[in-house]
Amino acid sequence: MPASGPTHPFTLPTPMFAVRQDSADSLLRAPRNVAVIMDGNGRWAKARLRPRAEGHRQGVKALHRLVERAAELGVEVLTVFAFSSENWKRPATEVRLLMELFAQGLARWEAPLREAGVRLTVIGDRSAFPESVVRAIEACERGTAGGERMLLQIAANYGGRWDVCQAARRCAEAGEEVSPENLEKYLATAGTGEVDLLIRTGGEQRVSNFLLWQMAYAEIYFTETLWPDFNEASFDEAVRWYQGRERRFGMTSEQVRAASSLPGL
Ligand code: FPP
Repeated sequence: MPASGPTHPFTLPTPMFAVRQDSADSLLRAPRNVAVIMDGNGRWAKARLRPRAEGHRQGVKALHRLVERAAELGVEVLTVFAFSSENWKRPATEVRLLMELFAQGLARWEAPLREAGVRLTVIGDRSAFPESVVRAIEACERGTAGGERMLLQIAANYGGRWDVCQAARRCAEAGEEVSPENLEKYLATAGTGEVDLLIRTGGEQRVSNFLLWQMAYAEIYFTETLWPDFNEASFDEAVRWYQGRERRFGMTSEQVRAASSLPGL
């Protein structure tokens, strides 16, 4: 691209840079599926005597950084909580701003995400969104549909209970037994597997009706860092913490170690 060409918010390295994973400081086992609760925008702004809107704007920048770093480390599925079904209760001006940032972000990110091989989908009940937001969502989803490097799921007007209920309803409507395997096919995240690592910024220690079903065995990382301050180093730290966890899935430590020493595992 010529130096005078358009600048995109995403500057993912070319796939060649993926070899970084072999370096001494590498993060060899980046979790496959990461979910993030981006909390603390309001407090970040308040601490600087700035309007909450500024916190959300900086929050969008932090999301850019996360998408770049996660793709660089080989994360396959990244799901972020942009707007919960409970966030409608916020003051109307803040809800409007979040909608604007969301629609603008989708429009600005479409081309760079496509170039970076990132496919974007929005999960949640979009029927409540203004028409302009729905159009922006659909355009971005269409424009990035071919991305194979990473799937970025933006949870908007999403709630974990809503997801389980709508999946169970559709499963029953299809005449299928409501079993874990069948229900999984109807979740908003169908086909993306389980969350390996959940990160929540902003110091709160709860899951706030996020991906309740999908995070049944997730490792949960809480950090005091406010979302606008969350950067590449913060994400690397979370990944290193994850690498130190022993995931037992209900088994004993001995069983896990025996299984992981089997040839081919
Ligand atoms: C939580 O901070 C953050 C949100 C409710 C919104 C997160 C949204 C973004 C970062 C923008 C998303 C935009 C796109 C394009 C996906 P808070 O307001 O609850 O902070 P507080 O707990 O400090 O008040």
